[in-house]
Amino acid sequence: MTALVDIRGLTRSFGGPAILSGIDLTIAKGEFVALLGRSGSGKSTLLRVLAGLDDAPAQQLQLPRRRSVVFQEPRLMPWKTVIDNITLGVKRQDARSIAEQALEDVGLSHRRNAWPLTLSGGEAQRAALARALVREPELLLLDEPFAALDALTRMRMHGLVFDLWQKHKPAVLLVTHDIGEAITLADRILVLENGRFTKEILVTLDHPRQRNGPEASRIEAELLTELGVEPSHA
Ligand SMILES: Nc1ncnc2c1ncn2[C@@H]1O[C@H](COP(=O)(O)OP(=O)(O)OP(=O)(O)O)[C@@H](O)[C@H]1O
Ligand SMILES: [Mg+2]
Repeated sequence: MTALVDIRGLTRSFGGPAILSGIDLTIAKGEFVALLGRSGSGKSTLLRVLAGLDDAPAQQLQLPRRRSVVFQEPRLMPWKTVIDNITLGVKRQDARSIAEQALEDVGLSHRRNAWPLTLSGGEAQRAALARALVREPELLLLDEPFAALDALTRMRMHGLVFDLWQKHKPAVLLVTHDIGEAITLADRILVLENGRFTKEILVTLDHPRQRNGPEASRIEAELLTELGVEPSHA
């Protein structure tokens, strides 16, 4: 199978020691990959390269053309309505109708004419997801998109992202600090540490996944150890 993302020897530094030191990464079409790592380990740096927001030297950098990013903050234009935020920059003639569809997909049709500042945190992130989907990405890049949400909203967002992934089947790279989130959603979990991937775990559990089953608990303990947290302190 040919990889959608195929990166070899990716390096990035900002003057000091390399943040990414010769990383190799392949992501298959439709694969859901979660990326964990301590704060400052370079997760957002890697995601920015994948998004095309940062140049970094690599021996090989094969990326799909259609990529979308959702950040921790929704980054909506406050002077445009929700629907106008979603169609912004979309050149297709049917932009409006695919935006309506994307809003329906994220359960936000009733807020189509709302101003971004009147949205709740969860609604704003759903709008940001709709804006990403409208571009029909082959690669969806998510940089801690739920980190600022309360626990219940975050769990609902996990369900939504899973449903959207099942429906549209983009490859996903999800940066998160939430180990449970990674285990619930991802086919594969990577840990970034000292400029390299230090762990790769395939998650083969059936969906919907139980977070506290024996296999999930085993993976969680393995990841906590890798991230330098004693499982009993989590
Ligand atoms: N534009 C930049 N200029 C200088 N240093 C940078 C720049 N971008 C990132 N860095 C540094 O690179 C390191 C990795 O940053 P990055 O944002 O990728 O970490 P992260 O893993 O996403 O962390 P967090 O989990 O806190 O979001 C940090 O030490 C950061 O200060
Ligand atoms: Mg980051």
